[in-house]
Amino acid sequence: MTIYWKVEPVYRPDDPAIREAGAMIRDGLVVAFPTETVYGLGADARNAEAVDGIFAAKGRPADNPLIVHIADKTKLDELAERVDEASRRLADAFWPGPLTLVLPVKAGAVSPRVTAGLATVAVRMPAHPVALSLITAAGCPVAAPSANRSGRPSPTLAEHVRDDLGSRIAGIVDGGPAGVGVESTVVEVAGGRIHVLRPGGITADELERAGGLPVEAAYASPLRVNGGAAEKGAEAADQGGDADFRPKAPGMKYAHYAPRGTMIIVRGEGAAAVCSRMQQELDEARARGERTGALVPREHAGCLRADVVVACGSLRDLQLTARELFAALRRFDDEHASFIAAEAYPEEGIGAAVMNRLYKAAGNRIVQV
Ligand code: TXA
Ligand code: MG
Repeated sequence: MTIYWKVEPVYRPDDPAIREAGAMIRDGLVVAFPTETVYGLGADARNAEAVDGIFAAKGRPADNPLIVHIADKTKLDELAERVDEASRRLADAFWPGPLTLVLPVKAGAVSPRVTAGLATVAVRMPAHPVALSLITAAGCPVAAPSANRSGRPSPTLAEHVRDDLGSRIAGIVDGGPAGVGVESTVVEVAGGRIHVLRPGGITADELERAGGLPVEAAYASPLRVNGGAAEKGAEAADQGGDADFRPKAPGMKYAHYAPRGTMIIVRGEGAAAVCSRMQQELDEARARGERTGALVPREHAGCLRADVVVACGSLRDLQLTARELFAALRRFDDEHASFIAAEAYPEEGIGAAVMNRLYKAAGNRIVQV
């Protein structure tokens, strides 16, 4: 039996529901809860068996480490062996908030299952009042990946958690919709640079301004691989002064966020050309007998014919796009779409995180027009 608590999105560590959920985490059980990015699946980070419960429920590969969540900035020094100055500035600027810092782990601070045996630990202080209440009530550092089955889009509603993990976990705290919609930005400071291991809620410009160091993308991008315009980044980083350091978020190598149908991304200059190519792909798919889906910004929802047209955010409001993205991807599974064409969004600001998730969802199948 999975316990389900509905709570208001306010800071109340004394709420009976939060106290009960916190006690369950402290007792080694696995409980899902909202954060300001996506829903997380929490367990006591110090307890190996509890952490195993997360991996088992998600079906997550054991070599993909977890983020440890804290409710108080001062707890960082209990988890990290050292905190360099730039990381400290970033924590001061963005915590609580959607930023994860990768730092040298303090021996014995968390179970080695959490770090997948790495010498580093990923830490963040979420900005959601329910997450902060629950971590406070649990009284321990809380390891929490996104609360989806491994490979599926991350959950932005408690309903998504139920669909994916239903009876596999001890409880679900429903605090309403998550906020940002895409996961936290994961960074590691090394060699005088801020390496972005996963783009997310905090943008590269924000990192550079607050961190006072140059920012480099250390995540794979199909555009860089194909020699696109955004040629700076991982490859440039590889050639930079810092030859020994190749930071990676181990999780980024796995297929992720994917709807069950085959998805392609259509990108290029000019909305008319992009939409007409999308329509051509959709028509061909339908002729093959596919059930078709289209993912488009609101502005273009009326331009396309498909079995399921999902309007996701807007070209003029990429924050909204981020917020709606994972629910939009899940819609295609609900509607049994077998072929999905998605329109590319601008890769500015949080658009970089949106497109990172879309490329992964599409297995990097990109049509350039
Ligand atoms: O917004 C978020 O970060 C959400 C909410 C629940 O907090 N959590 C989340 O966790 O997205 P998860 O497990 O889905 O993603 C964690 C990412 C993975 O790509 C993982 O490889 C990376 O962080 N990571 C964790 N520990 C790491 C480490 N020590 N070094 C490098 N990457 C690490
Ligand atoms: Mg995840």
